[in-house]
Amino acid sequence: MKGIILAGGTGSRLFPVTISVSKQLLPVYNKPMIFYPLSTLMSAGIQEILVITSPWDQALFQKLLGDGSDFGVQLSYQVQEKASGIAEALIIGEDFLEGNSCGLILGDNLFFGAQLSLQLKAASQLQSGAVVFVHEVANPSQYGVAEFDQSGNVTNLCEKPSEPKSNFAVTGLYFYDGLASQMAKDLIPSTRGELEITDLNNAYLKRQMLKVEVLGRGTAWLDTGNPADMLEAGSFVRAIESRQGIMVGCPEEVGYIEGWITEEQLKNRASKLGSTQYGKYLNRLASK
Ligand code: DAU
Repeated sequence: MKGIILAGGTGSRLFPVTISVSKQLLPVYNKPMIFYPLSTLMSAGIQEILVITSPWDQALFQKLLGDGSDFGVQLSYQVQEKASGIAEALIIGEDFLEGNSCGLILGDNLFFGAQLSLQLKAASQLQSGAVVFVHEVANPSQYGVAEFDQSGNVTNLCEKPSEPKSNFAVTGLYFYDGLASQMAKDLIPSTRGELEITDLNNAYLKRQMLKVEVLGRGTAWLDTGNPADMLEAGSFVRAIESRQGIMVGCPEEVGYIEGWITEEQLKNRASKLGSTQYGKYLNRLASK
């Protein structure tokens, strides 16, 4: 299975002025936002990852993440000319995917949970169809929302409904079979001019090929759609890290645990990062 991180757009949806840097490069507490979704895809066992960015920020993402060897993964890069919808990532990534199944994650989504890696690794075994994850939230109107029948089966997904039929929001992590690029090409842009990921997921649902998994209470899911969310995500990461002494969203750690980088590589990386808190953490990991 291959992976795609969609990290396009500018901060213009987040801030009142258009700033020429993508928000996924901004820090959430002590590390760039994109480290979190990168770590999540890696913890699903995915090593070949395409990073899709805006044209003007591609060089910055490349400078930050390089070819992925620091983390034990292979990164490649492509641009999305303008924010024409999340589903467009699967069209941009068609050649990279070469008909393989894939995990797609949004560059501003943060997941954390003890059993999460196991759940994602199971989902990444998918041969046909699609898997999406829903999580209970207090404010479903901001998201794609799942609608259930009386037996608890999902009957529809609705993008940002004003009157949501449940509190289960669809998170920004999706697993698709090899048909996804073709199915994304068949989508019709929505009234806001975007190829909606919710339309793609509904197309899988119509074919009875969509599995909807609940991320339980033991899993945290945060996105950074507005400044308050960003602050909340930063506070969450800080609380976990300072209380437990572990890092959330550290791709070097995931690569090391997966056996994709050696102790020596981890030490080299730590010494490159010097006396920063992050560098010290990697050093501690290597000498455990
Ligand atoms: O976070 C989960 C939600 O993400 C889902 O519940 C929704 O169904 C899904 O549509 C999406 O909603 P958002 O309102 O959060 O999407 P937004 O337009 O903010 O984009 C999410 C991220 O994807 C953001 O980091 C920017 C990036 N993006 C978005 C679009 C539309 C791109 O890189 N290119 C795009 O064309």
